[in-house]
Amino acid sequence: IYRLGGQAIFMTAQDTQISRKEPLADMARVLERYIDAIVVRTYGQEEVEELARFASIPVINALTDHSHPCQVLADLLTIQEKRGSLENLTVAWVGDGNNVANSWIFAAARLGFTLTLACPPGYEPDPQVLAWAESQGNGRILLIPDAAQAVAGADVLYTDVWASMGQEAEAERRRKAFENYQLNSELMAAAPSNAIVLHCLPAHRGEEITEEVLEGPQSAVFDQAENRLHL
Ligand code: NVA
Repeated sequence: IYRLGGQAIFMTAQDTQISRKEPLADMARVLERYIDAIVVRTYGQEEVEELARFASIPVINALTDHSHPCQVLADLLTIQEKRGSLENLTVAWVGDGNNVANSWIFAAARLGFTLTLACPPGYEPDPQVLAWAESQGNGRILLIPDAAQAVAGADVLYTDVWASMGQEAEAERRRKAFENYQLNSELMAAAPSNAIVLHCLPAHRGEEITEEVLEGPQSAVFDQAENRLHL
């Protein structure tokens, strides 16, 4: 925002009256008198929606437990840069059917590309998001529990942490459930040799991705990270 000539004010809950139980509906109607847009990173999606319902200015989701749209928009920019276009695109998601996976589903249904999702049983994406995508009749979204099958033919291999924010207490159980869902050189061998590797970071080397793959020639994760700034 500074680079674009604007000013940004960073506020945690402690810096606002939220910490004193002010309703979000009130905060929204105060902030809209002072500023031009609200960018919110929080846990509950309902909080972003409540702000958006009451504020007349744009409210941007910068990560919730439900979705991470800005991340996936930046990822699409990265794919366009690396691959030249988004035509006939196939993206393979390996791991948790989490907030970032949900945003990939929204993107696939909006833009009409193929998304294969390899998630362990019980960790598939939100059924409501999948149903919404189905109702759009655009793109192909396939749940393929076998990771090697899911990555065969993919242009982009994507993974994310096994335990997202708020799930830290489940980390141990998740490590077991996800052990066959690691982006490692064996899985890379099942994918096209020109596929690019993306990860929204922070990466947990040795869990969802190996050091070798993250630092390998197919990885575009730091160009991807830069594109979050531009996006
Ligand atoms: N799925 C991760 C994304 C972090 C950018 C999380 O929610 O923690």
